[in-house]
Amino acid sequence: MMARPRVVVAALLPQVGLELLRPRYDVDTSSERPERLWLLDHVRGAAGMVAAPGVRVDSELLDAAGGSLKVVANFGVGYDNIDVDAVRARGIRATNTPDVLTNATAELAVTLMLAASRRVAEADAAVRSGGWPHESELLGRELSGATVGLIGFGRIAQRVAGLLSGFGTRLLYSSRSEARGQAVAERRELPELMSACDFISVHVPLSPETHHLIDGALLAKIKPGAILVNTSRGAVIETGALIDALRSGRVGAAGLDVYEDEPEVPQSLRELSNTVLLPHVGSATGTTRDAMARLCVENLVAVIEGRQPPTPVV
Ligand code: DGY
Repeated sequence: MMARPRVVVAALLPQVGLELLRPRYDVDTSSERPERLWLLDHVRGAAGMVAAPGVRVDSELLDAAGGSLKVVANFGVGYDNIDVDAVRARGIRATNTPDVLTNATAELAVTLMLAASRRVAEADAAVRSGGWPHESELLGRELSGATVGLIGFGRIAQRVAGLLSGFGTRLLYSSRSEARGQAVAERRELPELMSACDFISVHVPLSPETHHLIDGALLAKIKPGAILVNTSRGAVIETGALIDALRSGRVGAAGLDVYEDEPEVPQSLRELSNTVLLPHVGSATGTTRDAMARLCVENLVAVIEGRQPPTPVV
């Protein structure tokens, strides 16, 4: 009897995903976030791999598979963890999970705008530690009437724009190309957007072009006191420059779900009271994580069975 293909799962895949995999394949999974060494060892001979943001898929790992690997199915829309050239060069396919997490991530971006502007984390911490600050000590700002800038105008940013429609905001966006067929937001060059907006939300994927896109020079242009939100990737913002700008008050507050070296979060960022810090939970709703798991597995199965995957990257 022919041995069943083996699949290595290097992500905390929801049960629904594992249940779709197990009848078809031998599933090799680690109960915790897998260590690099575990992965290098277990990928050998596997036909498929489920990866995730934070799991580096590079030449070393692909070569460790020893030629058996057909597909790297990323459990996430962002695939900056994957060296796509290395994947392509080896004739392997890579896939991601777009669309299914658009709404959850957009809702989290709006959550962070509100939480940072209304100082929710600071107020919550005060109450938890037995305090009762007066309203006048926790004055915030309102989204209503504010100008909101969206950096990048893909699916998630456009959903944010839709969610904000009830708030009475003016919307600007910056993007390499004009978004056709929409009238809700006006396009601006990035420096102009920085200086015009009260709230700025980052929605570009991480790539060599967007690495440290928001650096010290750009932060120096930000409207004083503006609120900066990032649900994309930490390395789009230069962390040291952001910390300086938060300390000086040039950036009024930041709502962050992602960090340059996550899960490491710099101590200096954690010490600042004008930050709301979340542990990369943009897609973390039950419905969305399950939908991501299904799409991820659909992609993987399609490639192993010789079909076109629904959402390929390579
Ligand atoms: C993604 O899908 O890229 C998110 O950042 C991780 O869930």
